Amino acid sequence: MLDDYLKANLASWDEAVALHLSSDLYDVAGFKAGGTSLSEIELGELGPFVHEGTRLLHLQCHFGLDTLSWARRGAVVTGVDFSGEGIRAARALADDVGLSARATFVQSDVEHLPDRLSGTFDVVFVSWGALIWLGDLERWADVVAHFLHPGGILYIAEFHPYAFLVADDATPDSLRVGYPYFMYGVPQRFDEDGDYADPDARMEHTVTFEWLHGFAEIIDPLLRRGLRLDFLHELPFTVPGLPFIFLEKDVAGMLRVRGRHDDFPLTFTLKMTRERR
Ligand SMILES: C[S@@+](CC[C@H](N)C(=O)[O-])C[C@H]1O[C@@H](n2cnc3c(N)ncnc32)[C@H](O)[C@@H]1O
Repeated sequence: MLDDYLKANLASWDEAVALHLSSDLYDVAGFKAGGTSLSEIELGELGPFVHEGTRLLHLQCHFGLDTLSWARRGAVVTGVDFSGEGIRAARALADDVGLSARATFVQSDVEHLPDRLSGTFDVVFVSWGALIWLGDLERWADVVAHFLHPGGILYIAEFHPYAFLVADDATPDSLRVGYPYFMYGVPQRFDEDGDYADPDARMEHTVTFEWLHGFAEIIDPLLRRGLRLDFLHELPFTVPGLPFIFLEKDVAGMLRVRGRHDDFPLTFTLKMTRERR
């Protein structure tokens, strides 16, 4: 049974799919023309571990653009998302670009995925704005460990928790804290029009529930399930998509804090390996 938080979030994500498919941010036309939606960050850090035939599980894949970008590099991919609209669009996109033979898409919330998908994977991939939608990272860590065979890799490229602490009206000169770091499992309720891909969009489903997770909350459950930390990186830039007014694009098209390009963490990435014993 979907709880009320999940139901609200699902309605919002189902509605966002059509908007994102036609947005400049996601650039589906560029992908169809042969491009990749993956940034230099994931390509540089995870790319060397993804080869022809690598079995990759993408949790919270949205409409499959990043999933299919890994398939285009040779991976055999499974994308998972709770949004039926997202999964339908992902399957259609896979057909469109001739990748459906190496791409499977499963509609499921993360928590119940072991009931709906069998097998294990070489890589579990999680990226950009996925973790804030999950209230229970203990359960999430169970799912990650369940799907990784011994020696398999978890790779995360995510917005830095610090970026979500800053108040909505903050400026680069006053980056004051507007949100709590410790949430004790209770989500923040938002009721906002617009969308990160189109701030002027008028949405029907405006209420969402989101959880900020600190580093310990993310990493500790994974360590306790036998994953070894290979690296943890913090970067002062991130991919386009965060709608905060204190950010601007740098010459490479990455977002940084206006006027303080190297001062403020906006991304973290990590790689963990499931121990062989
Ligand atoms: C920001 S997107 C994923 C990031 C991806 N890199 C992208 O932008 O295409 C977040 C995704 O999480 C999905 N999602 C949110 N809560 C979920 C849950 N509990 N189980 C599975 N999917 C969920 C949403 O449907 C959405 O597609």
